Amino acid sequence: MSITATSPAVFALYSRGQTGYRAHPMSRPTPKPWIEQIHAYVPGKSRSASGRPLTKLSANENPLGSSPAALAALVEGHNPADYPDPDARALRETIAAVHGLDPMRIVCGTGSGELLHCAVQALAGPGDEVLASRYSFSLYPLLAQKVGATAVLAADDAYAASVDNLLAAVTPATKVVLLDNPNNPVGSFLPPSEVARLHAGLPAEVLLIVDEAYGEYVDPALQRAAFELAAAHENVLVSRTFSKAYGLASERVGWVTGAPHLIDLVNRLRGAFNVSVSGQKAALAALGDQAFVAASREHNARERARLADAIAALGNHGISATPSEANFLLVHFEGAVIATQAVEALSDAGYAVRHLPGQGLPNALRITIGKSDDMTRVIACLRALCGEAA
Ligand SMILES: Cc1ncc(COP(=O)(O)O)c(C=O)c1O
Repeated sequence: MSITATSPAVFALYSRGQTGYRAHPMSRPTPKPWIEQIHAYVPGKSRSASGRPLTKLSANENPLGSSPAALAALVEGHNPADYPDPDARALRETIAAVHGLDPMRIVCGTGSGELLHCAVQALAGPGDEVLASRYSFSLYPLLAQKVGATAVLAADDAYAASVDNLLAAVTPATKVVLLDNPNNPVGSFLPPSEVARLHAGLPAEVLLIVDEAYGEYVDPALQRAAFELAAAHENVLVSRTFSKAYGLASERVGWVTGAPHLIDLVNRLRGAFNVSVSGQKAALAALGDQAFVAASREHNARERARLADAIAALGNHGISATPSEANFLLVHFEGAVIATQAVEALSDAGYAVRHLPGQGLPNALRITIGKSDDMTRVIACLRALCGEAA
């Protein structure tokens, strides 16, 4: 007779401690080898080296805060003893109405990060490859590593994603291609025709995820193209978040849209009650205040252009910025003033920015577009560092 681990006889023996099994005193749970290689995600700093609180220009948060409608929804009472709606139905229906989508083709998540993870987990595992561009969201390699897959980074084209290089990097092991558009940490944007060319060049069994975390900052005329791609094909997911232009990063709400079989996969893997009551209510209210989103986009475009112009004026000091469609600028320091000096000077002036040596950008800083007066001080600080009058 064979005894399995689940047989009542074995349970009885274990419970009486008669199996003879004794753990070695030094043994402990052993992680999968690929988990041991993961370095936890490094978030943007909010303090100086000495622990002094700084104004955060390091995590691409919305300097205008959140819509008053979302704030009002957050202070409305609800019974914290009750679970949230597990399907975020009202929120999905409102997202669908705002964007002209089918609510059945939407899943909400604990930030879009949860949903990106679910999609990768559904399709990739040990022996598989997850492809992204050389300079893309630092979470992507972690998503691949978490499931035991290999992250492959295709060479960039002047820091931006290159469709040709991405397609050339596809192998029979490629299961998922992650494209952040606009991209983080560069802010570069592939026009709809290039995204369509990337999709057209991929095998039908490879999933293309178009991560539009910064989508609301893009020219509104270009904001629907990825949704249309996802509606027309079986292998495209588009993700969006309430963390950026909607100013609700702390509420952790994101969503994806795509073909029903992809939505089904993500639904199987996501957390059961993954979006809190307050998150659902705040996101729903925020969707009703598109004027706030438009104001955030306009503020961002204006202040980003002002910072870009100020940096261009420091070109003779070897300082430059890559063109960005997102709510930050990647600033390169290739002259006498080096990136770490700028980090220190900005920290002394009260600002935390993102230095990215871990992403292969030791000479670059990602600076989030903040409030107007903060941008004025950042510009003055960079000019002073170069010995230029404020
Ligand atoms: C490109 C990109 N995608 C996704 C996210 C995740 O956002 P969240 O999980 O807050 O929705 C971020 C956050 O910075 C991002 O930069």
